[in-house]
Amino acid sequence: MTHVLVLVGSLRAGSTNKQIAETAVLNAPEGVTLSVYDGIAHLPFYNEDIDVDGARPEAAVAFRSALSGADAVLVVTPEHNGTIPAVLKNAIDWASRPYGESQISGKPVAVIGSAFGQFGGVWAQDETRKSFGIAGANVLEDVKLAIPGSVVRFAEVHPKDDAEVVAQLAEVVSAVVASTRSVAA
Ligand SMILES: Cc1cc2nc3c(=O)[nH]c(=O)nc-3n(C[C@H](O)[C@H](O)[C@H](O)COP(=O)(O)O)c2cc1C
Repeated sequence: MTHVLVLVGSLRAGSTNKQIAETAVLNAPEGVTLSVYDGIAHLPFYNEDIDVDGARPEAAVAFRSALSGADAVLVVTPEHNGTIPAVLKNAIDWASRPYGESQISGKPVAVIGSAFGQFGGVWAQDETRKSFGIAGANVLEDVKLAIPGSVVRFAEVHPKDDAEVVAQLAEVVSAVVASTRSVAA
């Protein structure tokens, strides 16, 4: 089994990115599990003073454990003011430490998503790739999917009922899974 941890860069109950993430989960190919990690909202702002034994928040321990158990990470994010939503950036900071022992080190990470603007949040995606790369992840630079018009496109139709999105997600997940196999080989 290949396990892909899915992180969503929006906390909104009706998040279109969460719906896209759920669509990827629903259409997981055989031999692959995807799970949406819903704990990043509970991570406090990263602070080295609390990232020590005895003070480390339970949410951070749980997040690192989830990363450790994943073969790859799929990020589904909107764009906030031209860049990464703060909740996602904070999660990257927690993922990046302890320095030299990060659970994200060498792990395949793909970044996709939807935003309202005409480019679908490409700035946020590029910055997310850059940040995960600096954190030591194996960023899948060729895996790209930026869906514009988020709240309008998915106002009436859930992405799971949008054949184009379902097909695009199948390609994304296939590339993510292939990356884990090439790591193992
Ligand atoms: C604080 C904030 C900043 C935003 N900035 C951008 C932006 O820079 N570019 C963009 O395309 N959309 C921007 N949007 C609109 C979001 O892309 C849109 O609301 C998107 O659907 C949010 O993702 P969600 O549906 O998963 O919650 C912003 C929304 C918020 C709340």
